[in-house]
Amino acid sequence: MDHDEILRWLRETDPGRIEELWAHADRVRRDMVGDEVHLRGLIEISNHCVQQCGYCGLHRHNKKVQRYRMSREEIIGCIRQAVAFGYGTVVMQSGEDYGITTEWMADIIRWTKANTPLAVTLSFGERPDDDLKRWREAGADRYLLRFETSDPVLYAHIHPPLPNRTSDRFALLRLLRELGYETGSGVMIGIPGQTYDTLANDICAFREMDLDMIGVGPYLSHPDTFLGIPGGGYPRIDPAEQVPNAEDMVYRVVALTRLVCPEANIPSTTALATINKDSGREQGLARGANVIMPNLTPQTYRALYEIYPAKACIDEAAGHCADCVQHRIRSIGRQVGRGPGFRVTHSP
Ligand code: 5AD
Ligand code: FES
Repeated sequence: MDHDEILRWLRETDPGRIEELWAHADRVRRDMVGDEVHLRGLIEISNHCVQQCGYCGLHRHNKKVQRYRMSREEIIGCIRQAVAFGYGTVVMQSGEDYGITTEWMADIIRWTKANTPLAVTLSFGERPDDDLKRWREAGADRYLLRFETSDPVLYAHIHPPLPNRTSDRFALLRLLRELGYETGSGVMIGIPGQTYDTLANDICAFREMDLDMIGVGPYLSHPDTFLGIPGGGYPRIDPAEQVPNAEDMVYRVVALTRLVCPEANIPSTTALATINKDSGREQGLARGANVIMPNLTPQTYRALYEIYPAKACIDEAAGHCADCVQHRIRSIGRQVGRGPGFRVTHSP
C-alpha cells in the first residue's frame, strides 16, 4: 500500500468500503499476531517535565499542575500489582524529568528483571544517549517515543525546541533500535495544522522504520496549553486539508497501521477510550489493535497526570481497571495474552 492509497482510505466516504477496511485489518491482525490481547500495566511515575510541548498539559510552564514523583517503594508496589493482575509487561512513563536519575532508574529496572517475569518498557522522553544505554544494560526491554508528526514544520511548532538542544526523535528511535530495545512510536491524530497528506506520510514512516510498537490516538485539546487556546496559532492550512480528531479517523489509522506493519504490537489507546468510554477500546481491538495498557498508577496521582483533560480511568483504582479490561477483551471473543508479548516475526 503506497502513500496515495493510504490517502484515499483516509478520505474514503463510502460506508461499505470502510467496513471492508475494518474487516481486512481484523483479518491481518488475527493471521499475524493472533487473538491474544497483551496487557501492559502503565505506571505514570512522575509528572515533572522540562519540555514545553504545545499539546501536553504537563509542559514546564503550566503552574497549575501539582507535581509529583513516585518513590521507589511506591513504584515497586505497582510492579508487584502488575504481576498479581497477570500482566506481562510494566510500562514506566513520565514527563522528561531529570529528577529521575540514571542510576536510580537502572536500579528499579534491575530489581524488576531479577524479581518478576515482566518485560520492562520505558517512556521517559528524549533522554541523553548514555541514559538509554545504561537502562538497556540494566535490562529494559522496550522504549516508547512517539514522533507525534512527520512534518518537521508542524513538529517544531508543537514541540518548541529547548535552548541549546535539538530534538530529533527519528535519530533517537534509530539509536534505541541499535541498543537492542524493541522500539515504539506513534502520532496524534487531528493536531491543529495536520493535513491528510502528512498523516499518510506518518503511516508510511511507520513502515519505513519497521517499528515494533505503534500507538496512535486522537489529539485532545488541553485548555492550559498554547495549542488549546482558541487562536493559539499554528501553521495555516486549507480547512479541507485539516485532519479531524474524530473517533472514526483514529480507527482508520489503527487499521491502516495494521496493514502496513502487520507484525507490530498496536495498542487500543487510553485517548481512544477517552473519546468513546463505552466501546472505544473494543472497537480499536476489532480494527487492528492487539494491546491494552491498563493504568496501574496509584489513585492519589492519577488525576495529576493530566496530559489531556477527562482521561479515561482517572477515578478508577488499578484493580478495577484490571477486571474491566479482561472483561472487555473476553466480551469480544478475544483472549488475555500470556507472557511478555514480544513482537512476533514471520519469516518472509
Ligand atoms: N492529546 C492527545 N494525546 C496527547 N499526548 C500528549 N498530549 C496529548 C493531548 N493533548 C500524547 C503524545 C505523547 C503521549 C505520551 O501522549 O502523543 O507522546
Ligand atoms: Fe480503567 Fe476500564 S480500564 S475503568
